[in-house]
Amino acid sequence: MPIVNFVNEKKQVQVPEGANLRTEAMKAGIKLYNGLNGYGAKLNELVNCHGFGHCGTCRVLITKGADNASPMGMVETFTCKYNPLSPALFAFIGNEDKMRLACRTKVMGDMDVVTRPDLNLTGDNFFS
Ligand code: FES
Repeated sequence: MPIVNFVNEKKQVQVPEGANLRTEAMKAGIKLYNGLNGYGAKLNELVNCHGFGHCGTCRVLITKGADNASPMGMVETFTCKYNPLSPALFAFIGNEDKMRLACRTKVMGDMDVVTRPDLNLTGDNFFS
C-alpha cells in the first residue's frame, strides 16, 4: 500500500492503491483548504466544490513521487490551466510539474504532498 507523506503536517498515511488523495487527507485530519493565502480558510472549508474539481481550492504540490499520481483528467486540466475563475490557475503557473487537485488525484504509489500552497499573487513565477 502506498504511503502519502504530508510534509507540512509531518504525517505519513498508508492508503490503498488508487485511493482519492482528498478523501484520504480528510480521513487523516489533514486540512486542505486555505482560502486566499490563509484569509477565509475556515469559510473555504465549507465553501468549495466538495470534490468535483471545479473550485481549485484543494490544490496540493506533489514534491516527490508525482509520477505515482494518476494522470490529470479533463476537468482538472481545465480548472488548472484554463478556468479564469479558479484560483488554481494562478497557483499552477510555475508549478506545472507538481500541482494537482487533491480531489481529482488517485494515489498509485508513495508521494510527498505539500498541502495549502500559497497563491502566486505577486507573479514571481509568471515569466519562469
Ligand atoms: S474540492 Fe474543489 S477542486 Fe477539489
